[in-house]
Amino acid sequence: MRHVIVTRVSLGLAVLFLVSGGLFALVVTSRRQVVPADSPAGAGGGAAAFTDRCGSCHDAADLAPAVRHDRARIDAFLRTHGGAAPEERRPILDYVASR
Ligand code: HEC
Repeated sequence: MRHVIVTRVSLGLAVLFLVSGGLFALVVTSRRQVVPADSPAGAGGGAAAFTDRCGSCHDAADLAPAVRHDRARIDAFLRTHGGAAPEERRPILDYVASR
């Protein structure tokens, strides 16, 4: 009898995790679509995205010279650094370069 309960609880938990994973993916995907990189909001969103993702550790003006002189390398560096979404990198780099 006991193993039947354990099986049911395990199945219930498995379903719960699957549903949670699906919901999480939905939420993350829809949030990222709020500001597409090529929309006016995306182009102007560099400052906000920078403040959000990078501002706790960096001042944009400090990073500006590196971005202006070595943008391709910094762009690649940001794939693994800072946690910005792929479509946020361009607005962030545009903003930093303008500082
Ligand atoms: C949790 C703190 C933190 C956050 C958040 C963060 N950085 Fe950094 N960043 C660092 C530290 C520390 C270094 C220096 C060490 C290193 O190079 O990894 C650094 C280095 C850099 C460099 C210099 C790289 C080089 O090789 O010249 C750039 C450019 C940079 N960060 C940009 C960003 C941008 C843009 C964001 C936001 C998307 C960001 N960082 C988010 C801490 C942070």
